[in-house]
Amino acid sequence: MGSRVAKRAIERAIASASATASKSPLVSFRTRFTSSAAAAANASSPSSSSTTTSPTTLLKNFDVYRWSPEAPKGSKDSKPHYQSYQVDLNDCGPMMLDVLLKIKDEQDHSLSFRRSCREGICGSCAMNINGVNTLACLSKVDKSTAAETTKVAPLPHMFVVRDLVVDMSNFYAQYKSIKPWLIRDDEDETKSSGKENLQSKEDREKLDGLYECILCACCSTSCPSYWWNSDKYLGPAVLLQAYRWIIDSRDARKKDRLIQVNDAFKLYRCHTIMNCTKVCPKGLNPAKAIAKIKTMVK
Ligand code: SF4
Ligand code: SF4
Ligand code: FES
Repeated sequence: MGSRVAKRAIERAIASASATASKSPLVSFRTRFTSSAAAAANASSPSSSSTTTSPTTLLKNFDVYRWSPEAPKGSKDSKPHYQSYQVDLNDCGPMMLDVLLKIKDEQDHSLSFRRSCREGICGSCAMNINGVNTLACLSKVDKSTAAETTKVAPLPHMFVVRDLVVDMSNFYAQYKSIKPWLIRDDEDETKSSGKENLQSKEDREKLDGLYECILCACCSTSCPSYWWNSDKYLGPAVLLQAYRWIIDSRDARKKDRLIQVNDAFKLYRCHTIMNCTKVCPKGLNPAKAIAKIKTMVK
């Protein structure tokens, strides 16, 4: 019974594909014939699904920011612009990073972007997708909006090194300035004896929601205060990290750390706009950490 229904469905699909083919070039006829016949057969007969798996083409347009300092003067890439790429979502991995890798592999080797772990761990694939800062590897491409163009840009208000790659030097220098490591008075002693720096379970739990930060900079580069004062304001990511060390029960420099961040620019440029917390792809709350530091320095 199932196979008869499937056969009829295939015949119907062939007839409809043939009608389309009379108006279309050979290549599109082939694609449509194979895919519509297969789709009809799959829908009608579960037993045939393992042999007819060719999906239909689902093209989506991506406008990607391009600029290269090495491009010859007067060439397209010597000036910032958006370049359009069409990608078949049915022949691509589900995430935005998969789309970019497919474009780079198959359409344009010169496209530059950072990535490493593809698991939301390294923080290197941070970019602006349709106006929102996020990680490309955690950003799923919604097939239901395939008809709409997706815009991909570098993190906002950062100097662009090339295409989607931004200069993170200032961000890392700010991170280094808060001394993001454990400081102990008995460091020499513990090193030579191999003694561990123990912490109670309760104190360790206080670091939850902080230690998970991967320094992707999505929060800082979505903060208007950081846009205008990134030379002086530490920004939400670095302040969250500062708070993480301030409240670490094993650290001996809590007071110094608080004195260091207690500054009209470093800390008080935060006006609790909350963009940072809204965009954090790890679900962290930098605005809350900043608020906690403010209560501690008072
Ligand atoms: S707080 Fe979130 S958005 Fe900000 S750097 Fe850390 S992981 Fe990224
Ligand atoms: S809460 Fe503070 S750090 Fe976060 S976006 Fe607003 S001003 Fe920036
Ligand atoms: S590739 Fe590492 S966070 Fe996206």
